Amino acid sequence: MKVGDRWFRAVWWEQTGVGYIDQRLLPHRFELSVASSTAEVASAIKNMAIRGAPTIGVMAAYGLALASRNHEDFEATYGILNSTRPTAVNLKFGLDAVAPYYSEPHTALEAARAHDDAEVAAAEKIGEHGSALISRGATVSTHCNAGWLAAQDWGTALSPVYKSVESGNNVTVIVDETRPRLQGSRLTAWELAQYGIPHRVIADGATASLLLRGEIDIVITGADRIAANGDAANKIGTYPLALAAREAGVPFYIAAPTSTIDLTVASGDAIPIEERDDDEVLYVEGLTAEGELARVRVAPQESEAVNPAFDVTPAALITGLITDAGIVEASVDGVSSALRN
Ligand code: MRU
Repeated sequence: MKVGDRWFRAVWWEQTGVGYIDQRLLPHRFELSVASSTAEVASAIKNMAIRGAPTIGVMAAYGLALASRNHEDFEATYGILNSTRPTAVNLKFGLDAVAPYYSEPHTALEAARAHDDAEVAAAEKIGEHGSALISRGATVSTHCNAGWLAAQDWGTALSPVYKSVESGNNVTVIVDETRPRLQGSRLTAWELAQYGIPHRVIADGATASLLLRGEIDIVITGADRIAANGDAANKIGTYPLALAAREAGVPFYIAAPTSTIDLTVASGDAIPIEERDDDEVLYVEGLTAEGELARVRVAPQESEAVNPAFDVTPAALITGLITDAGIVEASVDGVSSALRN
């Protein structure tokens, strides 16, 4: 996708390591960085300098190719990268795409590049299938950031929006803030602003009211892991959004590439949910009047927090899964048909 007049993917290969857009600084600063060791790749994933399920997988794939070039021990490197974040299964998918070629650095890099390109192609397909669900002049609600920063070049939930706008439709996007890390107001709003796509940022708690008032036509979110029965883990707050959409009679779709499907988990109960630092809830970050990035405490000094980073939306609340293989039912049959196509 374009930033100004230059094309970028969220992560890419460079001679010196794995290049990436540091998403922690957006929307206030657009800075590029390079991770040139396994420790730096692991830290970029863990600290969420890069994030979003497919992007995490691509970063991990390039990270393994980098370690192969540096002749690092395979088991140790695989273990370090695979333990950076627990919920997005794309992390393991990216590592496994490169693992068989680890002993041959040139081939390992080719495998990482092929994985990257396959994720771009999958994200674009999601857009092609999903855009058919967006009617003329529709208002789409989304959660977190499931745009091109999160899934190379097109995104997952935002890919149908980009494709629909590309075909001449005037779509409006309702972007919820997505506490605590605010991926909605920081990243999704930034992406949409880059493309001049009309959008409104709302407080997380406002979505249910907008749904009931008939101001949202369709909800599309991404996923970090889809179980064999169609249950889907995504950013915390997705489940209440699905409940509110059901109550309001508004269709609720999950958009994800088939690399997000994990047949080794039978249902959502078995998906590991990442718990993150209390400080993400107790503090907020932003830009001061002087143009400095600052972090300020919101809650009382005495307060502690609970910070589950993801929740699971049961298949019964999901109208359909928009995958690169087509739109399928969130069910055992639907999930297996997506993997067959
Ligand atoms: O914690 P994050 O920001 O990595 O969580 C990201 C999400 O939950 C996205 O919605 C998900 O990865 C799908 S992105 C294409």
